[in-house]
Order: sequence, then C-alpha cells, then structure tokens
Amino acid sequence: MSATRFSESVTGSIKDSVLVVTIDNPPVNAISADVRQGLIAALDHAAAHGMVAGVVITGAGRTFVGGADIKEFGKPPVGPTLPEVIDRIESFSKPVIAAINGAALGGGCEIALACHGRIAGEKAAFGMPEVKLGIVPGAGGTQRLPRLIGPVAAIDLIGSGRTIRAEEALALGLVDGVSEDPATAAALIRAMAAAPLRRTGMIAVPVADPLAVEAAAKKVLAKARGQAAPAEAVRLVRLAGDVDLKSGLADERATFIRLRDSQEAAALRHVFFAERSAGKADKLEGIAPRKIETVGIVGTGLMGTGIAVATLIAGCRVIGVEQTADAAVKGRERIAATLDKSVQSGRLSAAVRDACLARLEVAADANALAAADLVIEAVFDDLTVKTELFQRLDGIVRPDAILATNTSYLDPDLIAAATARPDRVVGLHFFSPANIMRLVEVVDCKATARDVLASALAFAKRLGKLAVVCGVTEGFIGNRIYSAYRSEAEYMVEDGAQPEQVDAALEAYGFPMGIFTVNDMAGLEIAWARRKRQAATRDPGARYVEIADRLCEAGRFGRKTGKGWYDYSTGDKVVDPEVTALIAAARAARGIAPRNFSREEIVGRLLKAMADEGKALLAEGIAASAGDIDLVMINGYGFPAHKGGPMFVAETVGKAA
Ligand code: 3HC
Repeated sequence: MSATRFSESVTGSIKDSVLVVTIDNPPVNAISADVRQGLIAALDHAAAHGMVAGVVITGAGRTFVGGADIKEFGKPPVGPTLPEVIDRIESFSKPVIAAINGAALGGGCEIALACHGRIAGEKAAFGMPEVKLGIVPGAGGTQRLPRLIGPVAAIDLIGSGRTIRAEEALALGLVDGVSEDPATAAALIRAMAAAPLRRTGMIAVPVADPLAVEAAAKKVLAKARGQAAPAEAVRLVRLAGDVDLKSGLADERATFIRLRDSQEAAALRHVFFAERSAGKADKLEGIAPRKIETVGIVGTGLMGTGIAVATLIAGCRVIGVEQTADAAVKGRERIAATLDKSVQSGRLSAAVRDACLARLEVAADANALAAADLVIEAVFDDLTVKTELFQRLDGIVRPDAILATNTSYLDPDLIAAATARPDRVVGLHFFSPANIMRLVEVVDCKATARDVLASALAFAKRLGKLAVVCGVTEGFIGNRIYSAYRSEAEYMVEDGAQPEQVDAALEAYGFPMGIFTVNDMAGLEIAWARRKRQAATRDPGARYVEIADRLCEAGRFGRKTGKGWYDYSTGDKVVDPEVTALIAAARAARGIAPRNFSREEIVGRLLKAMADEGKALLAEGIAASAGDIDLVMINGYGFPAHKGGPMFVAETVGKAA
C-alpha cells in the first residue's frame, strides 16, 4: 500500500489495485478549491497508473461531503469548478465508486451521483438542501437525480431539501448497496471491470405518471411562501426529462449562478451562519457545562408539558411537580397524550414514546426534586408565585443544581435575588408549544455563573433547540421587539390602515400570519393585563393606542372567545363591521382623519420598528449580535427566513421591503 497526497485535503492510497481517495477537509469536508484540485489530481493519478483498476471516493470523519463551500460564495471563482470535477468523474474511463460514510449533501450528493456506483455506510445520509440556501443544485443534481430515482422522488428531495438515510436511499435506487465493509466498494469495482460503466448522465429519465409529478410539484410550491428557488428546482427536474444532459446542465448552472447572487440566497446564507454562531459566547470559551441528566419541571400546564416532552425525547429523566396528587395525575396524562400525538403524526416511534414514559415521574411533592440536576419552573407568570417557589426550591435541590425560570416578562434578576444562590439561576424562555418551537432564549442574568450559562446552552442544544443568549430586559429580545412592532401596527391602524390590510401586507411579505391574526390566536387579555399594570409608569407623552383596550373591554379576547380583531363565530376569520366601527370611533375621538397606506409603507414601517428596537437591544448589550436578533424573529415570530430577519433587511436593503 502506498499513500499519496493530492492536495492539502485530498489523499489517496492504493490497495488491491483500487485507489481509495479520502477527502479530509474538517469540519464537514466542504468542497473547497483545494478539494476540487485534489480530486482532479487523484483522477489524473488513477488515469496515469495502469495498475489502478478503479477509484473509491470517501470522506474522513463523520461526513462524506457537506456540500460546496458556502464561504466561497460571493468570492471570485477558483478553478476547477465543481461541474468540471463532476464531469471528469462521470466520464472517467475506470470505475469510480462513492463509499458514503456520512452526510452527502448538496455538492457532496452530486459527487456521489456522478460516480458509477454508490455504497452507503450505515451512517450515510443524502440530501440536496440547496433550496434552504435560496439556490438550486449547481453541479448536476437536478439532472442526474431524476435519472436515478425518477422525477417524482427527485422533485420531493430537491424541492424540500430534506435529508434521507441509507435505507430510504437504497429503496429509491439512489445507492447500490448498504455496507460498512470497506471491501464492498472495491468488490463493486472488480464486478464492473467487464461491463460498460453505468454513467448516470447517460441514463434516460424514467417516465412517470404526470399526475404524480404534478402532485409532487404542487406540494413543494405550496410551502415555498414566495421563494424563487423551490419553483426553479421543480422546473429543472422536469426539464431533465425533456432535454439532453448538456442543455439541462447548462440551464441548471445558469439558474444556480443567478440565484446564488440573489438577495434571497444572501439572506438564507446569513441565517445559516447566524445559526452556527448562535450561543457561542466568547466568554464561555473553555468552560465545561455541568452534567444534566435529571430535569425537574415545576408546573405541567401547556408550557411545562411541552418542555417535559422535549426533555424526555432528548433522553433525560423528568420529574414533574404539581401541587396536588390529582393535578400530578392530570399532568402525567397531558405529557403522555402529547407524546402519543407525536407517535400518531409519525414524528416519534412507539418504542421511543415508551422509553420516554419510563423516564417520567410526576409528583405532588416538590421534595422529589432533590435528585434533579436542573429544575425549570413553568408556573403562572407572577413575581410572588415565582420568587416563593425559588426560595422553597433552594432548600430542596442539591447545591450544584441549576434553577431556570421560564418567565416571559418578569425580571429574572428579582427572582434570582430571592434565592440564597443567585449565581445558579438562569432564564430558559421557551416558546409555546415548547416541544415543537425551535427557539429558546437563554437569559444570562446579573449573577448567573458562567458554567451555569454554558450548561443551560448545552441543555437547550441537547433538546435540539436553537439557543440564543440574551440579557435581562422586559420581554427579552423577542417580546421586546414584538411589542415595538405591535405598537407600530396599531399606530397605523389608528391613522387609517385596517387590521386586515396590515395582515395582508405582512402575509404578502412572507409571514405565515399577520400580526392581528397572531394576536387573536394568542389571546388579547395577557397583553391587556400588562398594559394596565404599566399604566401608572407609562410616559404620558408617549403615543398610546386604545383600540386593543376597547376590544378587550367588549369581551373580545381573540379566537378562543370567537371575537377579537376579527370575528370567528362562523368558524372562519372574517372582518367584523363592529371592529371597523370601533376603530373609526377611536380615530374620531382623537381627531384623526384616516389616510391610505400602501403595502410597501405598512411593511416598511413595521420592519423599521423591529430593526430600531433591535438596534436598541444591541446598544444596551441585551443581544450579542444582529444575527441573534434575526434568528429570534425568524424562529419565534414567523419572520420569513428568506428575507434574513429585520436586522439583515435594515443592513442590506435599507428601507425597501
Ligand atoms: N460550507 C462551508 N462551511 C460549512 C458548510 C458548507 N457547506 N457546512 C457546514 N459548514 C461549517 C459551519 O459553518 C460550521 O462552521 P463553524 O464551526 O465555524 O461554526 C461547521 O461547518 C460545522 O457545521 P455544523 O455546526 O452545522 O455541524 P453539524 O455537524 O451539526 O452538521 C452538516 C453538519 C449536516 C454538514 C451541516 O453543517 C449542514 O447542513 N451544512 C450545510 C449543508 C448544505 O447546505 N450543503 C449544500 C451547500 S450548497 C451546494 O452544495 C451547491 C452545489 O449544488 C453546487
């Protein structure tokens, strides 16, 4: 066996006449210029050496190839391009086999597709996540995948960007076999020696039922929310059946380059990198998180149940605590029912649910929390209730246990100060339903110890959550921006915009729901109670719109009462003339002559209100980065990811909506 280095990140060794080429470009073997150059050099080597019967391409570490190097996007291109490398692989005179040891994503999957055979290891995964970055595959994915697995499955995979495991890839015909044995790929090479090579690009696209193709396309487009990439991806897959490979590849590449340079793709790249840097506070460098295996959850209402479910699914033991035996039984039932629902919807297997239930205990006695590494309170959002609870817990939990509050609006510093050990108190602000929503604001309180913060972050990540660190302020990052955004929406309504116009403008921009519809869903009474509490301290000079108060005074608390900003009494959301009249009366009382608002003005003002509040949060040191703020708004408040978040919009497109 002899080893050769083809570039910094590509090496090869010959074993039994097979050149095994390994891509080693940590952390995810992204296809940098160095990798591309190394692959070409490896193929040159294989071509030049008669003793080499074929080539196996594999990846070092956990990943096969994580895709094109996203960091290269926007920089001057360095040859060879990925399509050139891929063309060389496909047209190579000797067999080239991909031994897929881990994730083969985007360009990584395209390399595998161009090989003459594919063997998946048990940890292999396949996906074309390009649409999630606002682009389409740019190195043959849309043309080769349908040739291997048919247009219906290709539209589903490329249009959704979802990742599949080895088993599904085998069933679809994406791989030729599943094996952990390195000899399998070499054996495939020997088996191929006699027969003509199976070049994916030369295979005819299998004919599919046009109705099935249409249905797959429709499903992708229904989720696109106005983004360009999914529709282009579907178009290109369909094109593969109509034109020759060369024309299909040329169209794909041109589309890839056009989309790669678009605002949408820049926004999604911003989100990608913001997600990777979220929760990586410099000050936590080198600080080891504490071990968290047993988690206490006080309160098993809607929020506590969601937190318990997420924690159980992550493999922790959960001790729920309620005030009475009856409430504990009901709490356990709620948690079990939520787990059951996940089984019914296919998100969870019955076996995992059973294992979760075996790790769950719900007690009527807080002393059960003595075993907990972390206790999260999810009780009524009232300062006295929470401080009394934390004082009590202080005397029950171990000295090294962490206490977390899930408060949305209270000051966690006050809750911490009521305990003997404020350094072990941290905020974990989950969003409801906590087992579904990805965002968690991890609140770094005045006295929170560094390893407590690091532990809370590690715990949130273990739950599969996107953790964003935030300082103490009323409403933290998300609700503070939401408040500013809501006020701005109400100013416009008082000045002449109708709530349904504001909602329509937001929905056209890409929000799944407008703000007034969201408020009706959440219920108007909590914000009303807060406004009443704040009345005494409110700046009398500040603008205050009373319309929402009038709605609440009329018993219109939103969807659950059948009426709010809209009327739901028929089951559908409809504009209510009573609300229109109430708004007109409120304007008249202030002497405001209503004026027209365009969609652009509505969206522009709302985006500006969010970005201005975001800038204030940065200036106050509450948020660590603009990216963190964007992530909160995208993952907690429906801001369309393909617009990048309010801070990204403010930085890149100014006031344009
Ligand atoms: N290019 C450059 N850097 C990348 C990258 C890529 N394709 N994928 C991941 N990284 C970086 C991350 O930014 C992160 O960097 P950091 O440590 O400096 O923050 C590091 O790799 C580790 O990433 P994760 O934290 O995400 O690691 P995980 O182990 O959790 O996940 C992964 C690994 C599943 C590969 C995940 O990183 C991922 O999904 N990556 C993106 C995959 C993708 O979108 N590929 C398509 C690219 S576009 C393309 O291929 C176009 C082609 O068609 C021409």
